[in-house]
Amino acid sequence: MDMEKLVSLCRRRGFIFQSSEIYGGINGFWDYGPLGVELKRNIKEAWWQDMVRNPPPGPDGQEISMVGLDCSIIMNPNVWVASGHVGGFADPMVDCKESKKRYRADQLLVIHPAEADHQKGSDSAWNRLFAFIKEDEDSLKSAKKKAERYGKKIGAKLPEPLPVFPLVSVIEHPNQLGCVVGPDVEIPATLTEPRQFNLMFETYVGAVRDEENKAYLRPETAQGIFANFKNVLDSSRLKLPFGIAQIGKAFRNEINPRNYTFRSREFEQMEIEFFCHPDESMKWYQYWRDVRIKWYTQLGIKSDKLRPREQGKEELAHYSIGTTDIEYLFPFSDEPQELEGVAHRGAFDLTQHQQHSGKDLTYFDEDAWLRDKDKYSDPDAAKEAKSKFPYRFIPHVIEPSAGADRFTLAVLCEAYAEEQVGEETRTVMRFHPRLAPIKAAIFPLVNKDGMPEIAQKLYRELKCDFNVFYDDKGAVGRRYRRQDEAGTPYCFTIDGQTLQDRTVTIRDRDTLKQERLPLTEVANRLHELLRP
Ligand code: GAP
Repeated sequence: MDMEKLVSLCRRRGFIFQSSEIYGGINGFWDYGPLGVELKRNIKEAWWQDMVRNPPPGPDGQEISMVGLDCSIIMNPNVWVASGHVGGFADPMVDCKESKKRYRADQLLVIHPAEADHQKGSDSAWNRLFAFIKEDEDSLKSAKKKAERYGKKIGAKLPEPLPVFPLVSVIEHPNQLGCVVGPDVEIPATLTEPRQFNLMFETYVGAVRDEENKAYLRPETAQGIFANFKNVLDSSRLKLPFGIAQIGKAFRNEINPRNYTFRSREFEQMEIEFFCHPDESMKWYQYWRDVRIKWYTQLGIKSDKLRPREQGKEELAHYSIGTTDIEYLFPFSDEPQELEGVAHRGAFDLTQHQQHSGKDLTYFDEDAWLRDKDKYSDPDAAKEAKSKFPYRFIPHVIEPSAGADRFTLAVLCEAYAEEQVGEETRTVMRFHPRLAPIKAAIFPLVNKDGMPEIAQKLYRELKCDFNVFYDDKGAVGRRYRRQDEAGTPYCFTIDGQTLQDRTVTIRDRDTLKQERLPLTEVANRLHELLRP
């Protein structure tokens, strides 16, 4: 599937627009149009319904306790000190002194012709390396051109296959950085050593813009959940294991926002922090990996494009004991890319917040204590035992953390199809009916003989329960095509026969089959078809 075609359809039909486009846009920010906002809402609602209100039964068939939360975006900045974001939420960055561009060091590759010559055992005339941005075709082309030009100058041919290495591995050797030509310049020695760069957006709370009043736009929703752990526990009397879920905006000053909405600077997360007994954490880690993969497949993501990938030890975030990325094969990349991370965070976050806030964030397992307390006859020994594991402890956390925008993009990529119908090429968005922005369209075949009146009555009835669309403009074939592009799964048409026998046609977006059903049964049929 051609990404450019999808981007163009998304703009033309009102799924996704560039933010503040009339002013030339702003890199890494996107707006959802009338169809896009419905699609993304349906995704978030499906997640809330299936994970918060009605999560699948646990590994032993038990009910899962899950509650929701909606925290503020700006929190006390100490939250981000405790979480490790102030100290460590950074990517090593490389600046170009000439072009003033900034790159993530791990995203830069170099064409290194001398290395290829050395590996063949010959001396090399090359003393230049040509940097480009990973997975960016234009950047690679430009680096190759620069290398070819330089090769001509020194009378050397660019080796085949192209010798490509990560910049970070090359510059471990002394003096190499001075030979690198940056991705957006023609001369060497303009790139700096990699430096840490904090990805959090900063702001100031109140009138005075000084260090004391500095605050951050949250880079993840998770910390709001940890900061509220005690509030939720005390107010809802939940017992382990239980989860707290939140959907909300997160902000990261990404260095290379790219691949459409895939890596944005403002995005929405759908996160669960699932608190459990440390001895049961591996069981819950497995449970959440399975549940989350199944959820994507149930909503129409084909299993051959979806894969779980266990992160290597060197990839793990500072808080994680183990993480499985759920990846999707997007059309813009040869390798599957992260849709969601399911992380085993151990006791890291609650321990950190307990230390930094000075508040007790332990859990007391009352059932276990009531079961065992008679074992302790000495009151002092009983008091001592009661204050420790296995009765009082910091729960472990399993975190399925999904991106609402990334999944929206995956749904758009997965849905896009072009097919030949007779002489015509039909573009159709094959959304799962639960996610489709418009559930059904209602058409009068012609604008006379009482057809519009019947169609409007049906439309008004259906719109109480569903997002439906009324269209009486142009030939009916063209109206069907417009709905195919919007991904509307069903169209109901009021025609001449309706006037005689009160039946209408229902047309299926995917099979293109049409059948008749009584007007009075349309609402029930739609309810049936859209039931999860
Ligand atoms: N609380 C854990 C956490 O935030 P993460 O892997 O950094 O983990 C979780 O983010 C999910 O959020 C990712 O799997 C992705 O879906 C989404 N996400 C992260 N950064 C993003 C970005 N720059 N643009 C769009 N989505 C992003």
